[in-house]
Amino acid sequence: MYDVVVVGKANIDYLVRGPRLPAPGQSLSGDAFQEAAGGKGANQAVGAARLGARVAMVARIGQDPRGDAVLAKLRDEGVETRFITRDPEAPTGVALCQVGASGEKQILSASGANARLTASCVRQAAAAFTSAKVVLCQLGVPLDAVWEAIRLAKSVRAMVMLDPGPPAPVPDDLIARIDVIRPNASEARMLTGIAVSDRASAREAALDLLRRGAKAAAVQAGEDGDVLLSGGREVWLPRLEVKRVDATGAGDAFASGLAVCLAEGKPLEEAGRFASAAAALSTTVLGAQASLPRRPAVLELLSRAQKS
Ligand code: RIB
Repeated sequence: MYDVVVVGKANIDYLVRGPRLPAPGQSLSGDAFQEAAGGKGANQAVGAARLGARVAMVARIGQDPRGDAVLAKLRDEGVETRFITRDPEAPTGVALCQVGASGEKQILSASGANARLTASCVRQAAAAFTSAKVVLCQLGVPLDAVWEAIRLAKSVRAMVMLDPGPPAPVPDDLIARIDVIRPNASEARMLTGIAVSDRASAREAALDLLRRGAKAAAVQAGEDGDVLLSGGREVWLPRLEVKRVDATGAGDAFASGLAVCLAEGKPLEEAGRFASAAAALSTTVLGAQASLPRRPAVLELLSRAQKS
């Protein structure tokens, strides 16, 4: 029985931290290296499990040692992996993550087997969906697989959440089937054409997504925080003050926090505040999966923020 089903990407991340991000054509020496399981889908599955949900993951990985490592990590975290298929021809996806001294990041990835997750792979995982409250998708896998996940979610009346990363165009008829869409600033720009940099532009992008049929939108407002819009109601989630070392995985922490609260039946506003605290905490630790917080830490940060 799973509360949250995640359909998305699983990678191995190779992360190097340096004094800043290299400019095009520049070589720089870094001071820290990390090799770890990653990928937006797997990160969000692990994030949701650490926050207390029963989670199943639907993904495609290679028949290679990197794939073994992805599976081992998910199992360690209590995520159900039997709906993950292995591709005999394509390798497990990889991501090269670069992190600068003030926590800024850039990522270049090669999809490998992620690009071969088909609608039929998702259909074969139908048993995972029967008890789902939230189905959480991203765009690191083909759109056909996302469509199938939405169809299965609707058939069991689960909520559909989309984290539209990495940035890619999404047709309006798909947006119209989303209960909660959660783009960061660059994804919001790709989806709406609006250059999101602050609260006002994030609101504009959220309104556009609602006009196109999404029921709720949580748009990251650059460095400021997040705007949550639903049914004429706006909630502002200011960025919580923490000592930031790496933004990799912050969006995944936000998405998993939101998904877990919504699966528990919490109101969107409360889910947004929880998600925002989870995202803030994830920026205090180097790496994506390594930084995803557990529930007590999130609750503690929320209570500190309320007192200050
Ligand atoms: O969101 C962070 C993730 O994006 C990394 O773990 C990396 O794998 C990329 O897909």
